[in-house]
Amino acid sequence: MRATDLSPRFVQLHQPRAGVAHPELIAGLMQTQARVSPKYFYDALGSRLFDAITELPEYYPTRTEASVFEQHGADMARHVPSEAVLIDLGAGSCAKAARLFPVLQPSAYVPVDISVDYLRDTVDALQQRQPDLPMLGLGMDFSTLFDLGPAARDWLSDRALAQQPRVVFYPGSSIGNFLPHEALALLCQAHAVCEAGGAGGGLLIGVDRVKPRAVLEPAYDDALGVTAAFNRNLLRHVNRLIGANFAPEAWHHSAFFNAEESRIEMHLHSTGAQTVRWCGGERLFEDGESLHTESSYKWEPEAFAALLREAGFGEAQHWTDAKGWFSVFWAPA
Ligand code: AVJ
Repeated sequence: MRATDLSPRFVQLHQPRAGVAHPELIAGLMQTQARVSPKYFYDALGSRLFDAITELPEYYPTRTEASVFEQHGADMARHVPSEAVLIDLGAGSCAKAARLFPVLQPSAYVPVDISVDYLRDTVDALQQRQPDLPMLGLGMDFSTLFDLGPAARDWLSDRALAQQPRVVFYPGSSIGNFLPHEALALLCQAHAVCEAGGAGGGLLIGVDRVKPRAVLEPAYDDALGVTAAFNRNLLRHVNRLIGANFAPEAWHHSAFFNAEESRIEMHLHSTGAQTVRWCGGERLFEDGESLHTESSYKWEPEAFAALLREAGFGEAQHWTDAKGWFSVFWAPA
């Protein structure tokens, strides 16, 4: 490949700009149970704090998922087509996908992430190490609508890749951040993206499973307080976006397993009564009142397989670790 092609293309469909209206963010702050979408964790620092979380002894999902890929990667490769366009949702550091390149042999790599600046850096670094693999970074918020868009479709056509099978890779159990009906909507969109490519495409997705509370809860409330910092950092991000005056030190991190809903919930609790102001509004938080920042659903494999069918996918395969903590599904389009 020519040296001039060493830098990956980058398409930025998401503009994380301060000072513009964020109606959805403000509406969440005004609800009786105040809430902020977990997508606001991921500014540049938040993405790095998340990477630190994945190194914690308590945070089992990343390393458990990695062990599933290590143990069963060869078997997966018998189902997942090679020479596919590998579309990596929430790519972050791009490390998980990069580890799969030798097994999956993709013909192009399309990492997608809301954390635009972080993605630009990580794709640049990866392209230096893998100069022969065409890469297109997509900076976008796929949680509201997942679609490749005209720029990415042109990029694929220009490289004669439009009719390659498409493999959507969604590891890490990030699907757990969505309410079940939202998860279904995203999976339907992923199915449409796969179907628009060549035959043989599908979805390779990591899903965290239900397990004892004694394992689940420390994973979201670690001894070093990295997850607490990750949670509080969301307030700094929100401050920048809407000109708010959240004081991160005045909020206390909590995480618990809500068994009825089969989800971990993370909250920030106000220490003392305080009024938070932003451009165009304010809210009083009572002492102890919470701001709900994340739900992380834990799925039983049968229920998740049913969700995949409902989204239009064919019969799924899945692989798991010895403890049955984490599953990786392959769902053909
Ligand atoms: C990236 C959504 C999979 O839910 O486990 C980690 C995010 N939150 N610690 C998860 C997270 C707190 C993570 N996901």
